[in-house]
Amino acid sequence: MQTWLALLMMLLGYAACTDSFDESLSVQPLQDGRVDVAFNFTIRDDSISPHTHLLPLQIVNLLAAPEFEIDELHLSLSTGRWDYDKWHYPAFADLGSSGAEVWLSPASDSSRDSWNTLVHRLSGLFCASLSTSDNTHHVVLDGKTWTHAQISSQLPCTENLTPFIALLPCKSAAGLGQLLNPHKLFDADYHSLALSVYKDDHGARIEIKIEAVFNPARNGQQRQYSTKALFDRAVSQHCDLADSSTVYFGLPPPPTEEDSKDVWVVLPEDHEGIVENNVLSVDLMSSKKPFGLALIWPFQETFTYPRSTIDPPIRVRRDQIAGPIEETFVMKIALDNTDDESVQVSYLQSIPWQVKPWLHTFQIHGNKSAVSHEHALAKLDKDPYTLHVNTTLQPHSQTVIECIYQRQFLKYTDYAPDIHRGIDIPPGFARFTQNDHSRVVYTTPMLVDLATPDFSMPYNVIIITSTVVALFFGSVYNILVREFKLIPKQEHKGKTD
Ligand SMILES: *[C@@H]1O[C@H](CO)[C@@H](O)[C@H](O)[C@H]1NC(C)=O
Ligand SMILES: *[C@@H]1O[C@H](CO)[C@@H](O)[C@H](O)[C@H]1NC(C)=O
Ligand SMILES: *[C@@H]1O[C@H](CO)[C@@H](O)[C@H](O)[C@H]1NC(C)=O
Repeated sequence: MQTWLALLMMLLGYAACTDSFDESLSVQPLQDGRVDVAFNFTIRDDSISPHTHLLPLQIVNLLAAPEFEIDELHLSLSTGRWDYDKWHYPAFADLGSSGAEVWLSPASDSSRDSWNTLVHRLSGLFCASLSTSDNTHHVVLDGKTWTHAQISSQLPCTENLTPFIALLPCKSAAGLGQLLNPHKLFDADYHSLALSVYKDDHGARIEIKIEAVFNPARNGQQRQYSTKALFDRAVSQHCDLADSSTVYFGLPPPPTEEDSKDVWVVLPEDHEGIVENNVLSVDLMSSKKPFGLALIWPFQETFTYPRSTIDPPIRVRRDQIAGPIEETFVMKIALDNTDDESVQVSYLQSIPWQVKPWLHTFQIHGNKSAVSHEHALAKLDKDPYTLHVNTTLQPHSQTVIECIYQRQFLKYTDYAPDIHRGIDIPPGFARFTQNDHSRVVYTTPMLVDLATPDFSMPYNVIIITSTVVALFFGSVYNILVREFKLIPKQEHKGKTD
């Protein structure tokens, strides 16, 4: 009887378990010969409990902890510069930054301690040092309040990938996780590791997003690439826990008839994929063979990088220009709209407290309309400043945001280690919607020199003083303590026997 009951319970439990895991990989050739690779792992569950099948326990513990209120959490670790002029936009709208970035919603002012605890928990989970204490600000976006922090000097390296792989139900043993080879991934021109967590009344959703831009033409001057060469690994078996596992292998535009050099071929020719809209999709769940695809240009001997750029509709540039007096500089942000339609853009950046905006010099000029901006001043002593500008960019126009900033003189103890390098101003970013896709364009981080005292001086003084004291003390001590004794000279009585 009892075994029957247990079996029934198990069956019921199995039927009630509503979790799912979807994985996909998109490989997209870019016009400058590089390849954009994006891994998308999505885990959903209707209940958040430690007895979960697929949701990683580390994340369940974060979501279930009463001290953190998490509705939405985003973490990304990126290295390199996303080249919007040549690569268009990243596959994942919120990637493209440089350094580490953490977003948490909802934000509440009272939860500063819990935010710090959360950041330390995340640092521990992902082997990163996200000590954001003086880099955190609150913003309101899309009707939600967020706590946001960026650290441009925290760049990912191989040990950061392991915790991301550990979140996957099949780890790197089966499915697309097998392709996550750190040696190849971290050799890419740009790479980004990201985690998004969404919690609502219907449970939780976790997205693990890994994107990299490879340059196959760097070695060998050949544009051709294969999944085997890109990752140096193959998918030998599919992940049994996955509900879907798909590879979207993007194809270049069909070759023009005049130029045989642009002719390309997908190998192996008997692949199991379906071509639709210039994308070859392979369903790994139903595939019988190990997965591997290659794209080759048989008539192209060497690949020459094209000079052309694709004009992205919105371009953002941030420059530093010398200011009117020595301790100031001008930060100039230029927002270009190259599109035929006007675009509503929201630009946001945080500025560390070590540089102080001169608000009376703040100006926005150019062909703009409907501008609203807020230059939020730091609430606490060492909080960063926030610049948030909403504007509608007219077609084919440029809008320039300028403000003078002053480099502060700091207290001796306020200088961070290695201050001669300068301080980082994290990337600013513009958000807009284009053809129903939300897009984010990041600027590069900016390095600002601070006026720094000569930190070696105290060291020199300490060394010289110590030397002098040591010499003086040594000789005085020697004189005071040494005992002088008269030793009578023993007469040598020479006996001659
Ligand atoms: C990632 O996968 C999920 C689930 O299949 C999907 O909803 C989402 O749109 C995908 N994201 C991208 C950027 O393709
Ligand atoms: C800018 O627009 C966003 C929504 O797009 C809104 O949440 C935010 O409050 C606006 N900010 C300002 C300064 O008007
Ligand atoms: C703004 O638009 C006017 C015409 O409407 C044009 O003459 C002017 O050059 C534009 N200015 C900028 C900065 O684009």
